[in-house]
Amino acid sequence: MAARRLSSLLARSLSASRLLSSGRNHGVGSSISRYSTAAAVEELISPPVQISYTQHLINGHFVDAASGRTFPTYDPRTGDVLAHVAEGNAEDIDRAVAAARKAFDEGPWPKMTPYERSRILLRFADLVEKHNDELAALETWNCGKPYEQSAKSELPMLARLFRYYAGWADKIHGMTVPADGNHHVQTLHEPIGVAGQIIPWNFPLIMFAWKVGPALACGNTIVLKTAEQTPLTALYAAKLFHEAGLPPGVLNVVSGYGPTAGAALASHMNVDKLAFTGSTETGKVVLELAARSNLKPVTLELGGKSPFIVCEDADVDKAVELAHFALFFNQGQCCCAGSRTYVHERVYDEFVEKAKARALKRSVGDPFKKGIEQGPQIDVEQFQKVLRYIRAGIDSDATLECGGDRLGSKGFFVQPTVFSNVQDDMLIAKDEIFGPVQSILKFKDLGEVVRRANTTRYGLAAGVFTKSIDVANTLSRALRVGTVWINCFDVFDAAIPFGGYKMSGIGREKGIYSLNNYLQVKAVVTPLKNPAWL
Ligand code: NAI
Ligand code: MG
Repeated sequence: MAARRLSSLLARSLSASRLLSSGRNHGVGSSISRYSTAAAVEELISPPVQISYTQHLINGHFVDAASGRTFPTYDPRTGDVLAHVAEGNAEDIDRAVAAARKAFDEGPWPKMTPYERSRILLRFADLVEKHNDELAALETWNCGKPYEQSAKSELPMLARLFRYYAGWADKIHGMTVPADGNHHVQTLHEPIGVAGQIIPWNFPLIMFAWKVGPALACGNTIVLKTAEQTPLTALYAAKLFHEAGLPPGVLNVVSGYGPTAGAALASHMNVDKLAFTGSTETGKVVLELAARSNLKPVTLELGGKSPFIVCEDADVDKAVELAHFALFFNQGQCCCAGSRTYVHERVYDEFVEKAKARALKRSVGDPFKKGIEQGPQIDVEQFQKVLRYIRAGIDSDATLECGGDRLGSKGFFVQPTVFSNVQDDMLIAKDEIFGPVQSILKFKDLGEVVRRANTTRYGLAAGVFTKSIDVANTLSRALRVGTVWINCFDVFDAAIPFGGYKMSGIGREKGIYSLNNYLQVKAVVTPLKNPAWL
């Protein structure tokens, strides 16, 4: 069934290549040979890791789904099945929530000293370092991102994030409040309880850290539902957490689909808080489920269409490289991807030429191969979605500078694609494509670019490239987004808060701000019997 669906979707994808070969856009065929791919895609490297954990992790034990059902997870390099994983439904979520509830209500986790909790997080970070290469290989195998990115950047970041949150665990404290009258008033910052967490597939382990780190540091217990595309690494990581001394029931991981397992978690009456990362569309669904059930507070980290603004004083070569990274990093599958490249008219033509040349040089292929910058898209649905947007770009008056098609004949590889002459009202300038498709737009002055950059339902991030401190200051204040990167992009330090304005989300993750998502504030008021001052 799944295989049939896959092959029919793949067959449909060929229409994009047919459309291109019909010749509406010039020069595409000749550019294809310049991507260094075919060999890499044909001869795949065997990942140096075993798949050991495919069941749910509930109450400290790996268990099958209550229904006994499994679902396939794929290798995006080929579309072949990698493993069959326990398929969670409402009953599995119930079991996991019951375990988390017990671990919260009866301890020992919330009753441990913060220092003891901190030490478990630190031991977990040590184990992440010890298992760096296996975890990185599993992440790349299931997700398609370059192994070097997994092993040298994301896994070290995973350990760093948990050390950061370990640091917070014993530094969470309330205040004494100077209330009127003869009262001593203090605030206690307490864990909320059972946190439900739903994460996506583009950064499975980093999203695990952004959610699990602050929840545990604050003393909560957790039921985490991974994305159906990428269930493997969170199970491995949660196993390591138990090796690090995490008590059973504190962190439960359930695999499964969104409308079943995810919806059961979002609407569960015994879940006290919900954190979600994914599409704006699904964000609205889970917010509604949370409201209709027990009004659990919800934090949402959703989609984006982030502007990357190249000012007239920019060093064009550097701007091209950064804009390329801002869009193409992680196969373009970033919520904050700089997917509207606004370039000042004075440097526009030079920028377009160089952006095209850079995209043509991008090395695409087996993500396990050294030097590969871009692997496959995550799955056939995303692959199809990206090709559909490329087609929409071709059908508009935008100019296809390079790319525009799939790459190779198997798996979900897409050519790095650049469109110039993009207008704000084109679909490729409005929607989140979530793929390796750069849209370059021209602007004349700062007021105009601010207005255009802000004319979107999203507000996640922005990039600004300029030598002028005054321009940088003005733009960083005028842009209605949660993060502004000036002359840099995708800087994701553990301490930097991240989240969206408008329909890009609610709340902030990472940094000190993320703790509020997992804490209740209790005011304790005591009469002062004697005058407070003698
Ligand atoms: P999605 O938002 O549907 O899925 C994200 C998570 O939500 C997954 O764990 C999924 O199982 C769960 N989910 C789905 N439906 C649910 C429901 N009814 N109730 C509870 N949980 C549910 O995203 P999807 O379908 O994987 O990708 C669609 C688009 O979303 C992408 O093309 C991209 O534009 C965007 N996206 C944005 C991400 C971000 O980092 N902000 C991450 C992934 C996707
Ligand atoms: Mg979805």
